[in-house]
Amino acid sequence: MTGPRPGRLPGKVVVVTGAARGQGATQAEALAREGAHVVAADVTEAPGCRHLDVTSAEQWAALAAELKESYGQVHGLVNNAGITWRARLGDVRAADFDRVHAVNVTGPLLGIQHLAPLMPPGASIVNVGSSAALTAHYPVAYTASKWGLRGLSKTAALELGPLGIRVNTIHPGYIETEMTASAAPAFREANIRETPLGRTGTTDEIAALVAFLLSEESSFITGAEIPVDGGLTAHGGVKSISDALREGAS
Ligand code: NAI
Repeated sequence: MTGPRPGRLPGKVVVVTGAARGQGATQAEALAREGAHVVAADVTEAPGCRHLDVTSAEQWAALAAELKESYGQVHGLVNNAGITWRARLGDVRAADFDRVHAVNVTGPLLGIQHLAPLMPPGASIVNVGSSAALTAHYPVAYTASKWGLRGLSKTAALELGPLGIRVNTIHPGYIETEMTASAAPAFREANIRETPLGRTGTTDEIAALVAFLLSEESSFITGAEIPVDGGLTAHGGVKSISDALREGAS
């Protein structure tokens, strides 16, 4: 007789930032289904979410102290919280550039610094990058911050590898959340045109990869960068050339 499939994260303590909505909320639900004890955190109020502004070292220190007291160890961290800012190169103000960097890069740095000391061998960190981290995406503050996160992730994988802690980065393409809903419709349409699978992605499709990277199934994967983008970044920007010639041939 077969019972329900055992979870892949039984009893693991996992912190997910930006978990009030969007990708983070779906990740928190998916990881709980895998048996994890999920600590959902966000600067926005939401049921089941603990308050945490990822840019605050003091708040990370308080969370780490609480987790040490309650559980002794932390087995996973998903640095998912992020913000965008759609000013272009000529218009972006330095203060906005810095603000985006603080959330998207300094936030994950602080999370790693405060929680890695509580992590045993086998622990796993997932940083949420973006297809913007692999391309010249036009919102320059966001793009520069996500490229910065790649550098942080690579160094963290190097530094924490000897401790048995893995660090990987995922790069979502266009995923249907409130973040993308706030962009102009042309942004969504253009993304679909550039995506070989011809559609946008869902938060479930991101959460599945996060669960895999936190679990033992990915035990020899670290320092990796995995796009989850329907092929958006794989063609290096030449899809429109292929499409134009295909249309011309018909
Ligand atoms: P979202 O805007 O729906 O959710 C982001 C969450 O992060 C919100 O709940 C927000 O309150 C929280 N947050 C913002 N600043 C914070 C702070 N200082 N401290 C703690 N929490 C904070 O966005 P979505 O789409 O769920 O994005 C999740 C991650 O995925 C972000 O890092 C984003 O850059 C990235 N991403 C999103 C894509 C998309 O198409 N939606 C594409 C590529 C990357």
